[in-house]
Amino acid sequence: MKAFYGDLKLGILGGGQLGRMLIQQAINYNVTVKVLDPDREAPCRKLCDEFIVGSLGDYETVYNFGKKVDLLTIEIEKVNVDALEQLEKEGVMVYPQPRIIRLIQDKGLQKQFFKENDIPTAPFQVISSPKQLKESHISFPYIQKLRRDGYDGKGVYKVIDESYLAGAFTEPSLIEKWIDFEKEIGIIVARNESGEIKTFPLVEMEFNPQANLVEFLISPSTLPFEIQQDAAQIAVKIAEDLKIVGLLAVEMFLDKHGKILVNELAPRPHNSGHQSIEGNVVSQFEQHLRAIFNQPLGDTACLNNAIMVNVLGEAGYEGPAVYEGIEKVLKCPGVYVHLYGKALTKPFRKMGHVTIVDADREKAIEKARFVQETLKVIA
Ligand SMILES: Nc1ncnc2c1ncn2[C@@H]1O[C@H](COP(=O)(O)OP(=O)(O)O)[C@@H](O)[C@H]1O
Ligand SMILES: [Mg+2]
Repeated sequence: MKAFYGDLKLGILGGGQLGRMLIQQAINYNVTVKVLDPDREAPCRKLCDEFIVGSLGDYETVYNFGKKVDLLTIEIEKVNVDALEQLEKEGVMVYPQPRIIRLIQDKGLQKQFFKENDIPTAPFQVISSPKQLKESHISFPYIQKLRRDGYDGKGVYKVIDESYLAGAFTEPSLIEKWIDFEKEIGIIVARNESGEIKTFPLVEMEFNPQANLVEFLISPSTLPFEIQQDAAQIAVKIAEDLKIVGLLAVEMFLDKHGKILVNELAPRPHNSGHQSIEGNVVSQFEQHLRAIFNQPLGDTACLNNAIMVNVLGEAGYEGPAVYEGIEKVLKCPGVYVHLYGKALTKPFRKMGHVTIVDADREKAIEKARFVQETLKVIA
């Protein structure tokens, strides 16, 4: 691979923040980067060697883009897989492999894959029409998920009892047993073409029961060693079963009995790995590049406690973004601000993230709360 000599052209499908952070690392490896995204104001627009505006879902656009690069990767799953399969046939390296993107694009196929490969997951049933909801063998409460195109909780619907059926999705979906989980946890695993596999240490999502949402992500987890080992083994097994080349983020639930259930997969860098930029020896972005270039995978060990807080557009504001409180946050030691270059804010839009590192875990949590209360994106 000629990656380190500047003549390897990497194409990234998607020009969002994940692509942007991937480019930050690709620059260190002398990689020439081309990006395709439908939004001419996408976060990657100014960071790459060539930025092409076009649809990620259109066969011709993706095919023509792919013909001009040596290696193609994604930062979003919603891309035209037919074009990727054709490119692969014609000798373009596409990592993760198109068949894996196709599988993961469809939550129904994904759950089927878990079942066929003995990967622990919540009981489920695939549904093709709302009528089938009434006859389902899964008892209330359950969660309905669109098979395709859901993200950040859009595309999931909790059905508590009969009265919620009227509001259910009508598109092809699956229903899944409601898991009264103890914690949401995640592991990122990487596999290169030679078959080398490495996992990042387990991370935990801290839930705020008052606000009823994930407050921040904390790394490394302090859950018992056996649970961390179980989670890592599951992640490795999935990477091996899929024979994926690249990163795979594995979202999991830890139930009240200490059992791990796999929720869903993402075959790319993931929000639950951003803290690795400052918190681990290699970041998820560096690891993804090493994996797709078939280089030795890096050491994933934690350097420190690291907490990641998403910086979301404040509710009630829409327009050119203003970062209120940023000076106060920057005065805090061990606080790293990442802004994604999005000019316009809107409610809950991911505008950036902040990583807080501290040798003292409680201090890190205190600082993370301070960052959350202080930094507001308004317009
Ligand atoms: N079976 C379940 N039981 C309880 N909560 C769930 C279940 N499935 C999903 N959730 C909750 O909904 C969130 C979003 O669901 P997920 O399948 O991860 O969709 P998305 O693609 O939007 O991330 C999860 O992070 C979790 O908090
Ligand atoms: Mg999810």
